[in-house]
Amino acid sequence: MRLEQESPCKVNLLLNILGKRPDGFHELETVIQPLQLCDHLTLEATGREIELTCTDPNLPTDSSNLVHRAATAFLGAARISTGVRIHLEKKLPIAAGLGAGSANAATTLLALNRLFEQPLDSGTLHQLAATLGSDVPFFLQSRPALATGRGEKVEPLEPFAALRGAAFLLIYPGFGVPTPWAYQQLARFLEAVNGRTGRARRLIELLQKKTLRDANAEFYNALEYPVLHKYPLLQIFQEFLRTHGAVVALMSGSGSTTFGIFDDESTARSVEAEMKKRFSPAWTAAVAM
Ligand code: C5P
Repeated sequence: MRLEQESPCKVNLLLNILGKRPDGFHELETVIQPLQLCDHLTLEATGREIELTCTDPNLPTDSSNLVHRAATAFLGAARISTGVRIHLEKKLPIAAGLGAGSANAATTLLALNRLFEQPLDSGTLHQLAATLGSDVPFFLQSRPALATGRGEKVEPLEPFAALRGAAFLLIYPGFGVPTPWAYQQLARFLEAVNGRTGRARRLIELLQKKTLRDANAEFYNALEYPVLHKYPLLQIFQEFLRTHGAVVALMSGSGSTTFGIFDDESTARSVEAEMKKRFSPAWTAAVAM
């Protein structure tokens, strides 16, 4: 049997860092919005090994690849000795703050569980996901969510009323930002750490009960302190988005993607066209709902 699966991405509507933990990770609260811009995975049970191929030559396909690691973790936990062949069609940028690699890992876990007729329960899948990366558990489900702890504790939420009909315009600058680097830099930006818990709930309540404009001031990303400091270009993207009608403009995750939220798809598409005219072709843009 062969399975075809879309592997989506996300943006962080809020990323509030509460402090550094003894294990080296940061305690945070984050509001995550899934977006239907996807990589594509094809999986097949065959042979005795894990065989991974990928359309992007910049990604290693050995045991360091998150898809490979997810498959190894799954087969070990399910005590399956059959091999799998996986093909990853990469359409989303790498190290872009969109969680694409984490989604690839979560999608692999879910797809293999389907392929082998559900040997693992959802608790075990969650445990495996959390060992693969802080953002991986979020992608085991498909709703917006509040994530806490290091990001692995996921509370799914109803779709936000304030985002109904809204469109996201994503701008990727042609380079990635390594997540460990962004977090390490926080040591130099003390105002970005020690956030107070509760900001996420406040934003969620506004997005559930009020309009996007009412919620506007509560969008926040603590990792902008180090990342915008090093890459002022990302600040220019935000200014461009705001002057072209974005209600919100923010960096996602640890960057490098900037997103703008527009009232409707047609405005987002016309700003996308304008952005392509004005800026370097190395910078790519996409609209997502
Ligand atoms: O969990 P993940 O592998 O995605 O994290 C990558 C890196 O980002 C970690 O090694 C750590 O340096 C940093 N990180 C952190 N606090 C978090 C999540 C990630 O410090 N909550």
